[in-house]
Amino acid sequence: MIVPLPVFEKSIFETILARRSVRKYKPNKVENSTIGNLLEAAVRAPTAIHQEPWAFVIIQDLSLLKTLSDHAKPVFLEEVQQYRSTQDDHRLDMFESPDFNIFYNANTLIVICGKTASPFFSADCWLAAENLMLAACAMDLGSCVIGSAIPAFNVPSMRAKLRIPESYTVVAPIIIGYPDEEIYPTSRKSPLIFSSIYAH
Ligand SMILES: Cc1cc2nc3c(=O)[nH]c(=O)nc-3n(C[C@H](O)[C@H](O)[C@H](O)COP(=O)(O)O)c2cc1C
Repeated sequence: MIVPLPVFEKSIFETILARRSVRKYKPNKVENSTIGNLLEAAVRAPTAIHQEPWAFVIIQDLSLLKTLSDHAKPVFLEEVQQYRSTQDDHRLDMFESPDFNIFYNANTLIVICGKTASPFFSADCWLAAENLMLAACAMDLGSCVIGSAIPAFNVPSMRAKLRIPESYTVVAPIIIGYPDEEIYPTSRKSPLIFSSIYAH
């Protein structure tokens, strides 16, 4: 895939610090060339034994995304039932509301799928996911991983609808769009360091 490379003004470190999960989007469509740039960034990620075990599904259809969201909510609720005592009940309540769209009305969803026969396919796909989200941030786009969609995406009827072959599994659904909210910094714990070992 050859796409013109965009010129970024933020340094990589500024971009890492600026990336936040965005949950409110403007209706503006993300252009095909921008999607091309994001995929170009994604596939630059390192992969175990250079397998590049990923494939992508791109959905830019708000009504299909709403249908997918409606389908995904009960599947997700059933999946997390076993962890309910340790979950934040308020957040799970949202999943019971018919108005809650798990894709936050973003008009673009990029689903990163991994070839399951490949060792470390999951790690490879998550590295691609972070590359994609950092590239989006550098282009002033918002993004958010939608893990709650994963159980539904791996239901056979859904896989068939999205033409995902049996040899692949859905790893990382990521919404992309133009942010329609102020993005405030999220807090982080200090790095937990078990030991720092130096030669004397
Ligand atoms: C594997 C994974 C799954 C996630 N699933 C969801 C999700 O279903 N819905 C959501 O709103 N955010 C989801 N997130 C985003 C996290 O809530 C977010 O990254 C975290 O709160 C830290 O905030 P930040 O990304 O703004 O720094 C997910 C993130 C990861 C890494």
